[in-house]
Amino acid sequence: MKFLGKPRSQTAAFLPLCWFFLKILQPGHSHLYNNRYAGDKVIRLIPKTEEEAYALKKIYHQLKVDLWQPSGISYVSEGTVTDVRVPQNGSQALLAFLQEANIQYKILIEDLQKALERGRSLQTQRNRRSLPEYNYEVYHSLEEIQNWMHHLNKTHSSLIHMFSIGKSYEGRSLFILKLGRKSRAYKGAVWIDCGIHAREWIGPAFCQWFVKEALQTYRSDPAMRKMLHHLYFYIMPVFNVDGYHFSWTNDRFWRKTRSRNSRFHCRGVDANRNWKVKWCNEGASMHPCDDTYCGPFPESEPEVKAVANFLRKHRKHIRAYLSFHAYAQMLLYPYSYKYATIPNFNCVESAAYKAVNALHSVYGVRYRYGPASRTLYVSSGSSMDWAYKNGIPYAFAFELRDTGHFGFLLPETLIKPTCTETMLAVKNITMHLLKKCP
Ligand SMILES: *[C@@H]1O[C@H](CO)[C@@H](O)[C@H](O)[C@H]1NC(C)=O
Ligand SMILES: *[C@@H]1O[C@H](CO)[C@@H](O)[C@H](O)[C@H]1NC(C)=O
Ligand SMILES: *[C@@H]1O[C@H](CO)[C@@H](O)[C@H](O)[C@H]1NC(C)=O
Ligand SMILES: [Zn+2]
Repeated sequence: MKFLGKPRSQTAAFLPLCWFFLKILQPGHSHLYNNRYAGDKVIRLIPKTEEEAYALKKIYHQLKVDLWQPSGISYVSEGTVTDVRVPQNGSQALLAFLQEANIQYKILIEDLQKALERGRSLQTQRNRRSLPEYNYEVYHSLEEIQNWMHHLNKTHSSLIHMFSIGKSYEGRSLFILKLGRKSRAYKGAVWIDCGIHAREWIGPAFCQWFVKEALQTYRSDPAMRKMLHHLYFYIMPVFNVDGYHFSWTNDRFWRKTRSRNSRFHCRGVDANRNWKVKWCNEGASMHPCDDTYCGPFPESEPEVKAVANFLRKHRKHIRAYLSFHAYAQMLLYPYSYKYATIPNFNCVESAAYKAVNALHSVYGVRYRYGPASRTLYVSSGSSMDWAYKNGIPYAFAFELRDTGHFGFLLPETLIKPTCTETMLAVKNITMHLLKKCP
């Protein structure tokens, strides 16, 4: 354990940083995020007919409803569960409409601002209690994650090498950890990214957890030792660095990047619709104000371009692409953009089946699994499809916990169980790679 903790002197140096963050987040000890979610509700709806779906789309548009899951208005259709955030001044109108039209709904979160503040006050207490050891059971800001990466790069140089693959739109470094026993011999690799979507905070928490587990167990766990001997892991804990930062400082439910648009005030592109694979077709939006905006052209986002360049350069070594999202509890594989079956379906499907069973064995949490198009929804321009089409034979996207009870506000007490079970799934997939698929 000790080797993953920070020396005391460094911890002391971090304290002013923590203070600085509290100040940004709670200007004048007032509300988080300027109280912008006061009275907002999160509501789950299931339109039963095409007419209901049509009426809902119209009213969502009028009331400026924020679609949480699925993430775009084009996905609203009969029989599809949608979780939406309704601004305070719209919730009365929406509830009245739902009652009149007799559409089933369930209020998931009564007052979003209150839910946020509850979470934050617990977090502050936990943070204080846990010093000076590094605490993997809290969400960390971008600065904290980057400091943690620098620290591991210094203290674990035999297993970890940290480097940057470029800069974000706002000029932040795009850091990667290369994890694995150094070897001159040829080694395959696994790519892991977290935090393509800013508000899905459990993603970066899992990436950190993965690295911690690898470092803590590779001496004692033969499976982990084998993984680090035979493979390199390229781990990008925060893909969408600008968006993640913004989700800490301004808008907890920000999803996209932060790039500007020449014609609209709305900022950001969906970094999981910006890849050159059936770009901007079904399940993506051409409108810059939408959460699934595909961008002005493929790889328009510097973050996407940097990762695509890296994967293109290393695709001969990379056997698996794993991307971590939330929330839905699903393990998805290609295709996202069409219903067709992938050529190596048998190998990929059996890896997914075993992985969700391994995950289930820990706490009994069930994940659905299958091709993204059939299991979640059709979406074009995704990183997973792109990786697969560019020659990476195993491409997966995880949608981590939960299924909507907390949604993006998954409490920190659930980081440990979520990461523990997910870890087993990832190890299972990795061990599958090391065998020849029958
Ligand atoms: C709710 O408030 C926002 C901004 O304060 C405004 O733009 C919007 O039109 C309002 N919506 C309704 C339904 O009154
Ligand atoms: C990681 O450490 C190596 C030396 O061990 C150094 O050359 C490299 O610049 C470090 N990476 C970063 C991003 O600072
Ligand atoms: C993967 O999970 C399956 C259960 O789904 C289990 O039987 C198998 O032993 C696991 N493999 C590894 C290497 O952990
Ligand atoms: Zn996502």
